[in-house]
Amino acid sequence: MRVAPLTDDDRKWVKERTELLFGGEFVVSGTEVHDPDKLPGFIATEGPERVGLVTYDIRGEDCEVVTLDALCQFMGVGTMLLEKVEETARRSGCTRLWTITTNDNLDAQRFFQKRGFVISKVRLGGMTKIRLLKPNVPRIGYYGIPVRDEIELEKSLSPAD
Ligand SMILES: CC(C)(COP(=O)(O)OP(=O)(O)OC[C@H]1O[C@@H](n2cnc3c(N)ncnc32)[C@H](O)[C@@H]1OP(=O)(O)O)[C@@H](O)C(=O)NCCC(=O)NCCS
Repeated sequence: MRVAPLTDDDRKWVKERTELLFGGEFVVSGTEVHDPDKLPGFIATEGPERVGLVTYDIRGEDCEVVTLDALCQFMGVGTMLLEKVEETARRSGCTRLWTITTNDNLDAQRFFQKRGFVISKVRLGGMTKIRLLKPNVPRIGYYGIPVRDEIELEKSLSPAD
């Protein structure tokens, strides 16, 4: 598997994946609206196939993982992509890596917590506000769980960690 920075040739695909995974071309995190296809990121490929992508946004000492998308799950794609972002964030002097997921996304909650992230905020009912902007966000999510809450996770990138 190869991981390389996203290029302009990948942007259309990033847009398509965002639409599929997040119910729209943009992603809302807290008060921010992101266009993942305009963000920096990395793409994972296996031979000629694109198998995953991650986008991130660095603001001062914080680096947000905006989207992380493994096309084939549980094969190490997500781990490789997240490691690449962490490396980039550390090199850019970031002290905090953070992301948002939803209450139904148990795979993501497991994935991030097993990789050093802790739950730092829970916005109960947060998805109601998101749906005003993105009516296509499904009401029922992974494992048939109602999609209601936003869960923020973070990892300290202090040199000692
Ligand atoms: C959450 C997500 C990004 C994780 O990516 P992934 O590629 O499935 O993750 P990995 O394969 O790297 O790791 C997952 C598990 O597979 C295991 N694994 C890794 N490589 C493996 C391999 N070669 N063979 C078998 N298992 C393997 C890991 O041990 C890990 O298990 P653990 O969490 O118990 O430690 C992915 O499930 C996904 O894209 N979900 C949909 C989008 C999403 O929810 N994104 C996050 C919010 S933006």
